[in-house]
This record gives sequence, structure tokens and C-alpha cells, in this order.
Amino acid sequence: MPPDGRPAGAGPRVVASRYNQGMNRTFVNLDGSLVAPQDAKISVLDRGFLYGDSVYEVVRTYGGAPFELDAHLARLASSASRIGLSPKWDAARTRVEIDRTLAASRAHGTDAPDPQAAPWNRGERYIRVVMTRGAGEIGLDPALAIDPVAVVIVQPLHGPPARAYVEGVKVAVVGVRRPSPLALDPAAKTGAHLSHVLAVKEAREAGADEALLLDEQGFVTEGSSSNVFAVEEGKLRTPPLGAGILEGVTRGIVLRLAREERLAVEEMPLTPGDLARADELFITSTQREILPVARLGERPVGAGRPGPVTSALHRAFRRVAGGPVRVSERR
Ligand code: PDD
Repeated sequence: MPPDGRPAGAGPRVVASRYNQGMNRTFVNLDGSLVAPQDAKISVLDRGFLYGDSVYEVVRTYGGAPFELDAHLARLASSASRIGLSPKWDAARTRVEIDRTLAASRAHGTDAPDPQAAPWNRGERYIRVVMTRGAGEIGLDPALAIDPVAVVIVQPLHGPPARAYVEGVKVAVVGVRRPSPLALDPAAKTGAHLSHVLAVKEAREAGADEALLLDEQGFVTEGSSSNVFAVEEGKLRTPPLGAGILEGVTRGIVLRLAREERLAVEEMPLTPGDLARADELFITSTQREILPVARLGERPVGAGRPGPVTSALHRAFRRVAGGPVRVSERR
């Protein structure tokens, strides 16, 4: 089952019904105005819509407060500068607008209980910040953009269910390759996402929760929206930034925690064969924290269940991000 709790291959009807239900719990801040999601409209001439000419961040809350917001805002600014986009808001204004949107969401009351949810996701919020280059005369030339747009979307966080952390999930190495770093700077988190969309489609068709993308030479890069780690011979291995990956905020925390736990860490090129041989695999992202991988394609990873290094790192992560969670709570 995909980590969002939806059965693999679930059709658009399931998604549409959750979309409709979610609309009354979705809060949108469009250019500084809080608007109902159905009224949050931008121009069809906006370059974010036409070309994916935008940058974005996904932040989450713990205890209602945004986690690692400084790091996310710094990455947003860096993404914008890497593609020469002048965001409508600076970091200080973005912070204010996130707070306003979160406050509106909080004022709406408590969430319906979700017994499947991992304890650390209950009542928390997903925050998406999008800055587009704006609208203008149709044409690829970025100089045509005149009207940049800034958006904050706040929704209840739908992280992986508790079961995914206990049992592990399935990932698949897909045929779609990550675009060359020479074509699109992997350190820029942009709205140009079609290759990742197609990678997820392929993974879902294989019954997998996340797609792992290789580069053109066949080395592992990252997941469609996550970084990947392997544990072999007691060492923690992950592709280096030079492998053409996004510098995940969660990845950075995991590397720091691993060093604090005196684990040997190797940032090194990895092949699909290295992943297949690994004793443990896990993926990391803002929404998933540290999510164990139990199956790589059709083969079990190690013993086919979350391993001790992954569990130890996740416990350490939980201490950083909102307190310890007892094993009994993980069920
Ligand atoms: N995705 N790699 C890619 C390509 C990503 O899109 C993401 C994040 C990550 C993990 O980064 P972080 O730990 O900072 O979340 C790695 C976000 C969560 C998303 O698009 O939903």
C-alpha cells in the first residue's frame, strides 16, 4: 500500500473523493490574501502553469509549529536564485504569510481522528509554498514574466500510516531517468516535475510506494520526492550531492544524527546492485521522516522488515522532531 494509505493503483475516484473532503480543510494564501481553495485562482498565462517555471518548498509542522523553516526558506531562496527567479516575497514575508495561513487553519478546529496515522502526524499540517515567475506574454523567454505569484497552501498532513513504519514500504527502480544536472540543476526545487510524475506513475503500476530514479549512467540518484540511504556492513551509504540530487533537509539531519551515533557514513555513488545487496534501505523526506524500505522491486531488502540501524536513526530523529515515541505507539 502506498505510504499515503491509498491502495496501490487506486483510481482517480478515490483521489477525487479525498480531494473533495480535503477542500474544507485546505487553507490558501494567494499573494497575501487568505482565500477559499475554490476561489484561489491564478492566470492561465502564469508561467508556473505553462512551463513549471516556479520554485517551491514543502514544510511540515510538529506540535503545530513549522519544522526546520529556516532551512526550507534558505533552500527556496537558493532554488529561486539558481533559476534566476525573483520571488514575490522575501524570507521574512514568507514566514509571516505561513504563520497567518497556519493560524487560519488552526482556527478551523481539530481534525477528525485518523486511527491509521502515525502518532507524530496526528493533527499536524502540510505547508506548501510556491513562487512562480508570473504571467506575461506567452513565450519561453523569462524576461516576458511581469507578475510573479506567491502561494501558501496549508492542509492536514497525510504522512505514511503507522503500519508503513512497522512493516516497511516497497520501492522500485524505474525506467524514467533523472534529468541530467546539465539540463536542470537538481539543487533547485522547481515546479518542472514531469519526469518525476512519470516515475511515480511507473512505480505505482509496479505496486510500489516510491520510485527510485537513476542517472543517465545508471547510478542511483534519489526518490521522486525523497532521498535514499542504504546500510551495508554496518555503514550508512547515500549518493553524494554530486550524484545530481536535491539536498534534502531530512537527509542533512540524518547524516548529522548518524555521525552523532558514531555510525560510519559514506556519501558515495551507488548502483541498483548496491541497493539490492544492502542489509537495510530507507528513504527520507519532510513528510515521511525516515521510512524503512522492506522491498526493492520484487525482492526483500535484508530480512524484509525494518532493520536495527534504520530503527535507531528513526528513534534519534523522533527525539529531534518532537519527542520520543514508544514502540507500542508505533503500532
Ligand atoms: N520533496 N528529493 C526530491 C526530488 C524531493 O522532491 C524531496 C522533497 C526530497 C527530500 O527533501 P526534504 O527532506 O527536504 O523534504 C528529496 C517534498 C517533500 C515534496 O515534493 O513533497
